[in-house]
Amino acid sequence: MKPMGPVPVGFAGQQGTLTIAGKAAEAWVEAAGDTPLFVYDRGLIAGQVARFRAAFADVDLHYAIKANPLPLLLDAMAPLVDGFDVASKGELATALASKPAARISFAGPGKRDDELAAAIEAGATLNAESEGEVARALAIGERRGLTPRIAVRVNPELELRGSGMRMGGRPSPFGVDAVRAAALVRVIRDAGADWRGFHIYAGSQALDAGAVAEAQAATLALAGRLAAEAGAMPPLVNLGGGFGVPYFAGDVPLDVEAVGERLAEAMAGRADVLRETRFAIELGRWLVAEAGVYLTRVVDVKQSGGETFVVVDGGLNHQLAASGNFGTVVRRNYPLAHAGAMGADVIEEVSVVGPLCTPLDRLGDHVGLPRLSVGDLVAVFLAGAYGASASPAGFLGHPPAREMVVG
Ligand SMILES: Cc1ncc(COP(=O)(O)O)c(C=O)c1O
Repeated sequence: MKPMGPVPVGFAGQQGTLTIAGKAAEAWVEAAGDTPLFVYDRGLIAGQVARFRAAFADVDLHYAIKANPLPLLLDAMAPLVDGFDVASKGELATALASKPAARISFAGPGKRDDELAAAIEAGATLNAESEGEVARALAIGERRGLTPRIAVRVNPELELRGSGMRMGGRPSPFGVDAVRAAALVRVIRDAGADWRGFHIYAGSQALDAGAVAEAQAATLALAGRLAAEAGAMPPLVNLGGGFGVPYFAGDVPLDVEAVGERLAEAMAGRADVLRETRFAIELGRWLVAEAGVYLTRVVDVKQSGGETFVVVDGGLNHQLAASGNFGTVVRRNYPLAHAGAMGADVIEEVSVVGPLCTPLDRLGDHVGLPRLSVGDLVAVFLAGAYGASASPAGFLGHPPAREMVVG
């Protein structure tokens, strides 16, 4: 039997029928009309936001909508967070439906001219990834008689230790190398554009509070050095994010309160040039991953070679990450449960597989679950981030998953 990750605290400890926002999983399926279904609990998201606010006084909270760009979810997030971070013109359009442009920033390499123009016209901040991008943004602004709002994304010399995805400390398509950042700030300011500050993103999915705190302190120091070198006070420094969530057996949740304490200490000693600067932390999965449950129904239970396969009606087409094919090197099991028998004893070892004709379509590999029969609901936890929008929904022509925001 292979281990599964921990059921998120919002659902751990439940007995019998899985409830989400106080209602049985089956009731949500009935309301949605069918499986497969993603259910996102607004109350659990609000709880994470409250936890962030308590731990980080006076630091803005941005939501990186790539984690889950469902419009209904963005409507729920908009009043809770200070800004949205987007990564394409499509995400920009979605974000603009629920947040004013002044609260939206746009990062990501390879922004096309039409994407730059859309951001400039709307009044969103471009987190510029290169000198070339700045030059194109300035030219577009001039042609249209508009003042672009531009922050410089810096490729820091630091890395976020232990992060699942490192995005700093090495040659990178993301951001401008720190040694060239101050010069680029001068170009932006000299051109009369609205320089918004720095965006410094070192990595994702970190669970070690010491590592996150160390990266934040180094980011703060770097921002101070760069601002002094550029001779200007940045209105905003986006300190990155990278707060991880426990997906797998043995993962220990990030101690965000400890990170908050260490950041407050670092802030107290920040460079004078940053005294009037606002700071932001940009989070995706930490805000939404644990609030989401993917519900899929058992279609078949079959035996092969002495093993039991529970075949469900959705798989990697909706929940690629749980199949181990989205950013993990070694396949490990997400937490799964029999939604009608939470907390029940493990009765058999099964593999939970989706309906796609590929051996990759496996949601649970040799996991221990209570006995599952045709018609039962399987819950896949940690489905609130990088689920529906990060999965190949069109592959093999199955219907898209339904999605609901509840609570
Ligand atoms: C610039 C940037 N911001 C935010 C995120 C969101 O990361 P996470 O969902 O791990 O918080 C990413 C992830 O790749 C990113 O590249």
